[in-house]
Amino acid sequence: MRRAGQMPEGEIVPSAPLSAPPPPVENGRFRNGVATAEAHPTSLNLPSILSKCEEHPFNPAPESHLIDLHRPMETPSEEFRSLRTKLNYMQTLQSLHTVVVTSASPAEGKSFTAMNLALAESHLADNLVLIADFDLRRPTLHNLLQLDRSPGISDYLLGEAPLEKVIKRISGSNLYFMPAGKAIKNPLELLNLREVKVLLDELHTAFNWTFFDTPPLLFSADANLISAVTDGTILVVRIGSTTIDTITRAVQSLNENNVLGVVANGARAGELYSKYTYYYSKKEEA
Ligand SMILES: Nc1ncnc2c1ncn2[C@@H]1O[C@H](COP(=O)(O)OP(=O)(O)OP(=O)(O)O)[C@@H](O)[C@H]1O
Ligand SMILES: [Mg+2]
Repeated sequence: MRRAGQMPEGEIVPSAPLSAPPPPVENGRFRNGVATAEAHPTSLNLPSILSKCEEHPFNPAPESHLIDLHRPMETPSEEFRSLRTKLNYMQTLQSLHTVVVTSASPAEGKSFTAMNLALAESHLADNLVLIADFDLRRPTLHNLLQLDRSPGISDYLLGEAPLEKVIKRISGSNLYFMPAGKAIKNPLELLNLREVKVLLDELHTAFNWTFFDTPPLLFSADANLISAVTDGTILVVRIGSTTIDTITRAVQSLNENNVLGVVANGARAGELYSKYTYYYSKKEEA
């Protein structure tokens, strides 16, 4: 496996436009059901919002493959603890609090990786972690946690739910969850709102880590957009299915964004998790 910065050169043909212009802003709160710049304040006071969040028990769905605090020695706990150690080390070298988890194509393990990484970090004392489902197209994290999809991010951005209803605390843990929210037709338009950047810029005031689950890079511009306004990006590849061509195009689409490294997710019947590996980025070696 090559490192992210060492991809072979090839023809780059993105299958989707990689950015979209921000929607025009008009006076007033909403335009065509989408919140405009005036719909939310510019300072959120997240620590105070967290004190008002609802709590929900940790109740993972069967077959969700989530790591279990009560069975810490079971795979894939070990692999995610190792990934956590590497990320925590990188955090000592650079300002690193908001991390996008994405991949080139569908079903490569983005949600599995984002959720387990968030869980692994949240197992450390005094380490507040948010897992945010920014896959507004096909969100799954609420299913893994057996919680409601809405109210969530889209409801907040539409001005239809306050943040304290959208962020949920997992009882007795350092983990907070922000589901995707109700289905919408125009995720890219919503993600382009100024409120997204305001929210993302403030997350570090409450959370040491925020992990963003996102749609595949080569199928929409959403992950690329979020990656441009967060501190770093982890690229998941699935051993046996991700091709060099797709990962090359994915890395190229991330352009100047800070790719922290590549997770090689090698789930196969009979050898689940056994090839779970993490590759250092150039920044870490510096
Ligand atoms: N290492 C693994 N071990 C066991 N199961 C895994 C592993 N990685 C992924 N899976 C399973 O594979 C399926 C697809 O994974 P996941 O939903 O994380 O992919 P995704 O990249 O988020 O997909 P999408 O593009 O649809 O959002 C899920 O059922 C997940 O539990
Ligand atoms: Mg997913």
